[in-house]
Amino acid sequence: MAVLQIATRPFADQRPGTSGLRKKVRVFQQPHYLENFVQSIFNAIPDRAGKTLVLGGDGRFYNREAIQTILRMASANNWGKVIVGRGGFFSTPAVSAVIRARMAHGGIILSASHNAGGPDHDFGIKYNTANGGPASEKITEAIWSASKSLQSYRILDDADIDIDTDGTSILGEMQIEICDPVAEYARLMEHIFDFDALRRLLQGPFRMRFDALHAITGPYAHKIFEACLGAPAGTVVNGTPRTDFGGGHPDPNLVYAKSLADHLFAENAPDFGAASDGDGDRNMILGRQFFVTPSDSLAVLAAHATVIPAYRQGLKGIARSMPTSQAVDVVAEALGVAHYETPTGWKFFGNLLDAGKITFCGEESFGTGSDHIREKDGLWAVLAWLSVIAHTERSVADIVTQHWQRFGRHYYTRHDYEELPAEIGEQIMRSITAQLPILSGHTLAGRSILTADDFAYTDPIDGSISTHQGLRLLFTDGARLIFRLSGTGTEGATLRIYHEHLEKDPRRQRQDPQRALHDLIQIGRDLTRIETLTGRKTPTVIT
Ligand code: G6P
Ligand code: ZN
Repeated sequence: MAVLQIATRPFADQRPGTSGLRKKVRVFQQPHYLENFVQSIFNAIPDRAGKTLVLGGDGRFYNREAIQTILRMASANNWGKVIVGRGGFFSTPAVSAVIRARMAHGGIILSASHNAGGPDHDFGIKYNTANGGPASEKITEAIWSASKSLQSYRILDDADIDIDTDGTSILGEMQIEICDPVAEYARLMEHIFDFDALRRLLQGPFRMRFDALHAITGPYAHKIFEACLGAPAGTVVNGTPRTDFGGGHPDPNLVYAKSLADHLFAENAPDFGAASDGDGDRNMILGRQFFVTPSDSLAVLAAHATVIPAYRQGLKGIARSMPTSQAVDVVAEALGVAHYETPTGWKFFGNLLDAGKITFCGEESFGTGSDHIREKDGLWAVLAWLSVIAHTERSVADIVTQHWQRFGRHYYTRHDYEELPAEIGEQIMRSITAQLPILSGHTLAGRSILTADDFAYTDPIDGSISTHQGLRLLFTDGARLIFRLSGTGTEGATLRIYHEHLEKDPRRQRQDPQRALHDLIQIGRDLTRIETLTGRKTPTVIT
């Protein structure tokens, strides 16, 4: 078994985005492409020798091939041990949990999250550090910089490795352990939640439907909801992961998880519905005829946190990403705990969690989580909701509407314009940036703008500064209008426009958000000149 040093040339497009490197499968299939990026990761971790790495992915097309390559490269690059999920499967939250539980040095997750899978769709690779969270910008920039000057990579010339049988084996000098991530993750959940209370709920008349969208959470959901908590068989649907997610788009929102939404809005709907994404870190929560926005979900869970055993002592603080609605800030103020506003991307919560400043955090992009790991966690959010329902004995709709009555309703909607030509996306952002100075103090559609700025964040723990994190119009009445280009798309540019308005009067809290926010929506369309520039009359996705 020899270590080969293969000569290569840098690829110019290996800069990690919001969540690792995401490209079309065929880009990753180019000779040396995957190997170059993996070697760049390893080069950015000079102290890896003898250390443990966790490895797995969401099972999408190209997962198994990539795992074989990475194992042979890890051995040739002096890693001491790699813990692989059986069959190469590992949800993102489970990787985070296992990195922490086994005190591994880091982990590689193969996923393009909520993007479609299959030979013509997306693949991705991201690195997580010893805290279990996504690598900091410092590390992702070091990976990118390594990729730009890469001349060779190291790999074993060995045959394929059996990744389907639990147990330990040796590859070169390196140990390989095949583990059952589902069992490890389920144990952690049992530690956090009151499984007896959840069993009573799920074995009673309460009916739930969990749609795994043919992605990674299927086996976890079957195990936790059906096997451990005794929900009837059939509670989990689309529970077998497929390389192309059954041809669907594994993104838990009303557009891509439409079949679940249809069930929850039908006659005789179940009490509760939930879905997760390709790699298991996102969540969508539905009640009977009721959709919970992710921003509201975070606020509601924060308000009820103490019903969950792991958070009985209360929350240390709460963080949300900048475009996430301010609903949770109001809860934090009522609880008397600190709240933080970070840029989009889970990695920005890492320092706050590690420093013990926050217990809960979340994003409008269907991400919710806590300090139990360093990734957002779809199934955790579902268990947290079930805990609140079990404790309050109320429906999802009642829990949320009562929350609004107490704290006010933050009407919220995000409009996405996907796959715009990249130059148009840039042009729109440049043009709004140029208008920012004159927008401050200006009145648009009867709302006056308090500040208009380009959001920058100074990390309160390490002082690092992240600029250009989204353009904000902050209105005097607390409303907000935000513009960002997505950092996770793989085709052209995706423009996201976020609209938010607080309504304190309970009599006016029952409107359709598109209606309640129509003036902000119009301001957004006018400022971007989206229709003139692109001919698009409507967004591709509304959440
Ligand atoms: C991923 C990240 C999230 C982020 C989301 C949207 O899921 O893990 O932290 O909020 O992508 O990012 P985008 O840049 O596409 O708006
Ligand atoms: Zn994801």
